[in-house]
Amino acid sequence: MPASTPASTSPRLAQALADSAQAVSTYIDAAITRSGVPSARLAGAMRHAALAGGKRLRPFLVIQSAALFGVTREQALPAAAALECVHCYSLAHDDLPAMDDDDLRRGQPTVHKAYDEATAILAGDGLLTLAFEILSWEEAGPDAGVRIALVAGLARAAGAGGMVGGQMLDLAAEGRFDAGDPAALSAPAIQHLQALKTGALLRYACEAGAGLGRASARESAALDLYARAIGRAFQIADDLLDVEGDAGTVGKAVGKDAAAGKGTLVGLMGVEGARAELARLVAEAISALEPFGSKATLLNEAAYFIAERRN
Ligand code: IPE
Ligand code: IPE
Ligand code: MG
Ligand code: MG
Ligand code: MG
Repeated sequence: MPASTPASTSPRLAQALADSAQAVSTYIDAAITRSGVPSARLAGAMRHAALAGGKRLRPFLVIQSAALFGVTREQALPAAAALECVHCYSLAHDDLPAMDDDDLRRGQPTVHKAYDEATAILAGDGLLTLAFEILSWEEAGPDAGVRIALVAGLARAAGAGGMVGGQMLDLAAEGRFDAGDPAALSAPAIQHLQALKTGALLRYACEAGAGLGRASARESAALDLYARAIGRAFQIADDLLDVEGDAGTVGKAVGKDAAAGKGTLVGLMGVEGARAELARLVAEAISALEPFGSKATLLNEAAYFIAERRN
């Protein structure tokens, strides 16, 4: 188990995370080849963005949510990989000098550092569009109706009403677009921003699993409750790592959020307050999955992993 894995992670969860990470990387690598990228530099930058590490938590959630309904990993893999392509694009763009201006990601140089800014922008664009190409492939879902729902859901989650909109609010909260100091955000305003920038893609992970599994409305709603809680927990954990982590373990720069005037719950509630909120959210996530009984064990363990993660 890597040193960055929390002590509470069960061997079964560690193995399941590693297995789905491996399968997703293999799938994305082949999809980049299959999409016919005409430039070795662009294909190299797309692979750098998408294949150099990462916890692969979103694809794991797609695969495990789908598994609740008897969908195999092989069947869930295209949707899982498509979501990870969108996530990796969002990171490549998030790190650009015009956004968070970061040099380190997943323990490696960021895409614009390893290549250059123009190539990093295009690599992100390439991964974003590849995601939708993957979802159009027959193997992505049992029928066209399921595939269209996967496409529509990912577009909503990733777009201006979802992750992109959240990124805009995140930068606006730093005071980027107005003269003067950043405005202090209220807790509900921070939660709204984070539900979009981080929560939307995590929510989609569970939505995709439910869609592939043709879940009932009640089952989808239960999974969505879980997804919202872990989405909130995920960003609080990220913000805690920025305050308490070290770059060597976290794999990216730390200690930047307060200096940048980012609106975070850690900034608002303090470390102890944020930890209490994390514990509350993990309990909320786990109780949402009660209807699934022991089938949800790995998803329940993933909630703890998200809260306690060290990278
Ligand atoms: C980092 O996401 C960006 C946020 C949404 C906070 P992850 O922590 O999932 O990053 P990787 O994929 O494991 O590198
Ligand atoms: C980024 O949030 C969320 C994205 C949509 C990429 P952060 O800016 O906090 O993520 P890190 O800390 O750079 O991974
Ligand atoms: Mg950011
Ligand atoms: Mg960032
Ligand atoms: Mg962060």
